Order: sequence, then C-alpha cells, then structure tokens
Amino acid sequence: MHRHLNTDRHEASVLFVCLGNICRSPTAEGVFRHTAAQAGLGSRIHIDSAGTGDWHVGQPPDRRAIAAARERGIDLSGLRGRQVSSHDFRTFDWILAMDRDNLSALRTLRPSGYAGHLGLFLDLVPHLGRSEVPDPYYGGPAGFDEVLDLVEQASNALLTRIQATLRSPR
Ligand code: 4NP
Repeated sequence: MHRHLNTDRHEASVLFVCLGNICRSPTAEGVFRHTAAQAGLGSRIHIDSAGTGDWHVGQPPDRRAIAAARERGIDLSGLRGRQVSSHDFRTFDWILAMDRDNLSALRTLRPSGYAGHLGLFLDLVPHLGRSEVPDPYYGGPAGFDEVLDLVEQASNALLTRIQATLRSPR
C-alpha cells in the first residue's frame, strides 16, 4: 500500500505481508500507523503492506476490513494493494508475515544478505500462544474483528521493540 514516502528520513521501516493485501496486512498497516502515531513516532517509522499474490494490485482493502477497522477509529480506505518484491528487502528492516505460507513465500524472495527481521507478526507476542493471523476472506465479519484483536496486540509489542532501537529525541 505505497504512499510514496521518502524512506531516508525514517529511522525504522516495517512491511506487513499477507496473501492478498486486502484484508490482514492492510489492517496491520492501519493499526500500526495508529499505534505509532499515538506514541508520537508516526514520522519516524516507514510503514507499508503488500501481498505475496498479485490478484488485488491497485485495489482498496476488502470492504469488510474497512468497516471493521472504522469501528475502531482506523481508516483503511485510502490504501491500495501491491505485491511484495525482492526490492522490499532493501527498503524494510522489519518484514512481518501474517501466516506461515506468507513467510515461506518471503523466504524464497529474501536475498542472502538480508540483515533485517523476517518473521511471523504474532511471534512478537509469544503469550498469545498462536503464530498465525487467520485469513478472514472466506468467513464472516467476526473474522475481521479477530484480525483486529490480534493485530492490535502485536502492534503494541512491535512498537515496544522498535522504540528500544530508536535514538532518543533529545
Ligand atoms: P488477505 O486475505 O491475504 O488477508 O488479504 C485474502 C484476500 C484475497 C484472497 C485471499 C486472501 N484471494 O484469494 O483473493
């Protein structure tokens, strides 16, 4: 979901990845933007999302994802789908997959010298006891709320991890 940011002024960069880039990863992008902004770090972290598949390139998020996020005060409507590429490993120092299939696809794309963190988003929250954000695409609206619940918790954990790596502002 590219917004043509100048990545040079950012001190950390995060890419969320799912299959279609219309349900889980745009939800993660929107929630983490909100989390970072509330901590005053919105301008210091470059945040984006992408899909391993190309079916929904250029499309807005699923209307059910937009509706569920809006209930929590998060606007996903301006995001547009894009496909992940090996170039993303040059841009992002955190690449977080929603499920193991996504992670396998990313490992195939990963250049041998990648020094960032590639892993499952929910593994940042070990006490959840689960590693995958379930794909809500073929289910009902409750699946989208579950995605939000999981992604909110993992976003808080990610912010804590990133804050520990950032220079203090003074
Ligand atoms: P997402 O959900 O990976 O969370 O964006 C999906 C969206 C679309 C499809 C699969 C999963 N699809 O097959 O089109």
